[in-house]
Formats: sequence, C-alpha cells, structure tokens
Amino acid sequence: MNSKYSFDNKLFNDTKAPNFSKENPKPDYGRVTSKYLKYRKQLPEEFFKYIETLIKQIENSGNKKKIKILDIGTGPGLIPIEIAKRFGSRVDITALDISENMINTGEKLANKAGVKVNFIKGEAENTELSSNSFDIVITIRAWHWFNRKKALEEVKRVLKPDRFFVIASYGMFEGKVMYITKGFIRKYNPTWNLIEKVKYLHKNEYIKQLKQDFSEIDLKVFYKNHKLTQEYWVGYIDTTSAVAANPSFTKEFIQRFNKEHKELLGKEFGKNQLLNIDYRCYIISSKLSKKIKSRL
Ligand SMILES: C[S@@+](CC[C@H](N)C(=O)[O-])C[C@H]1O[C@@H](n2cnc3c(N)ncnc32)[C@H](O)[C@@H]1O
Repeated sequence: MNSKYSFDNKLFNDTKAPNFSKENPKPDYGRVTSKYLKYRKQLPEEFFKYIETLIKQIENSGNKKKIKILDIGTGPGLIPIEIAKRFGSRVDITALDISENMINTGEKLANKAGVKVNFIKGEAENTELSSNSFDIVITIRAWHWFNRKKALEEVKRVLKPDRFFVIASYGMFEGKVMYITKGFIRKYNPTWNLIEKVKYLHKNEYIKQLKQDFSEIDLKVFYKNHKLTQEYWVGYIDTTSAVAANPSFTKEFIQRFNKEHKELLGKEFGKNQLLNIDYRCYIISSKLSKKIKSRL
C-alpha cells in the first residue's frame, strides 16, 4: 500500500505554514492517545533537571509567586504532569493541545497522579491565553507540527519579559534498529523523512528563527541507551506520524504493518532479543529580553 501521506521537503525549509491538504493530511495524534501512554513512557531526566535550573533562576531573581509554565502541544500531558510531581508547590502549569482526546486523557492522568495541571484545548498559533502571563513556555516533540512563524509570535505575546522559551525533543533516532525500521516504514510510506528533519532541524531552522528575537540561546544534546523489547519498539513506532497517527492508514493496515515489522525485527536481531536503542534528547532554551518585549 502506498500512502498518500507524505512529507514534502519544502515543508521544513522555512517557517511557512506546512501545506497540509486532503492528500497530505496532518497527523492526528488523537488517534494514538492510549498507545502513546503505553509506548512513550521514557521521559528525559535531563529535561526536568534543565527546567529546574530555569525555575531556580527565576526564583533567585526575586520572584515570589509561583512560576507559571505553559506546555504547547502537550499530548496526554506526560511532561507537565511530571513537572507538577517534581516541583508542584513552586509552579502553576497550563498544558495546551489541539486534540480533545489528548486533553481529556491528560486531565484523567493528572487526577490519578494527584497533581494540578490546567489542561486546555487550543491552538499553538492562537492560544487565547492572556498576554505577559507565563515565566516559561515549553514545547516538546511538537514544534515541527506548528505554523512556527505564528506560534513564535504567540509565544512572544504570552511570555513575560526576561523569561524563557524552551523547544525540546527526544526520541529514538539513532543506530541500527532505527535504520532497519526506517527502511521498513519507507516501503509503505516512501517519502516519510521526519526523522532526518527532526534530527537536524534544530541546528539550523529553530535556532535561526529564535535568534531574531531571543537571546541567551543555549543548546544541549544528550544521548542515552535503552534496551527495549521488540514488542515495545513496534508499539513506539506505531505511535508516530509514520504509522498510527497517519490519518490515511486504516486499523487493518496498521495491524498488518505492526505484524510485518515485528517479523522483520525477529529475523534481523533474533526472536525475543532485546533491542539496543540510542535515545537522543535536545533542549534549546532562549530568553525574551525586556528590550525586545517592549518593542512588541
Ligand atoms: C508528538 S506529540 C507530542 C506530545 C508531548 N509534547 C510529548 O512530548 O509527549 C505532538 C502533539 O502536538 C499536538 N499538536 C499538533 N498541532 C498542534 C497545534 N497547531 N496546536 C496545538 N497542538 C498541536 C498534537 O495533537 C500532539 O498531541
């Protein structure tokens, strides 16, 4: 089966709105909410440590109130819930996503965990949140899905002066397993190139875009090795835009895809052998200076 769902290279070359259409639909992560919870459990420790340094920096600058954090493209809220668990009394978190399914799931998860996160259904490009109201805006594994030009204007609007914007991503993009899986994905989805784009994008486009208005841009990259079962790896890939979040793939097709993917891994690595996966996390932090903010 050839997917109609493809990624046009041009889509990532500038900050213009991605040209999604009926033939090239935007992934629908609402389709994968429950799988997302099961197969995207690894959260990068480094990210939370980094957020803590920003919280401390704001607290040390004489801020006496709770630090207000906004997460855009939050999915089922895995990250804001973890932030609330770790720094609950010091922060007040809002988590926004375009998918109602994701927002509803996030609310349930936060209740179950006994933490407070304010979930909102909304668009990154037009959040309808108050101006100058957040100390830290974060976006994780999501910036590439937005109209980045509009979304950045929105970040600048809702962010307080001298405060932080953080773009982060983490995923299992390196190594032999990914190489084999990528070849398999392309059999059905020949132009799927998100992995390369996510991997290299930050180096040029994101930082270039941030440099226009933000200062103190800081890039950190971390790698970590994971040993995963083949079932888990198939499930993880299933949650991506290459498979189940792809709105043009049917349930039956996805089942067949996963079965074939698992068989291939068994053949390549030996049935039931654990897979060695390199996990990469990058964090780009930036600050919106008072000077720039006053010009907006
Ligand atoms: C790959 S998921 C990342 C979820 C979460 N940040 C994480 O790392 O687990 C991308 C999320 O962005 C959301 N999204 C896509 N376009 C959006 C938009 N324009 N505004 C808000 N959310 C959007 C999707 O619904 C999806 O939940």
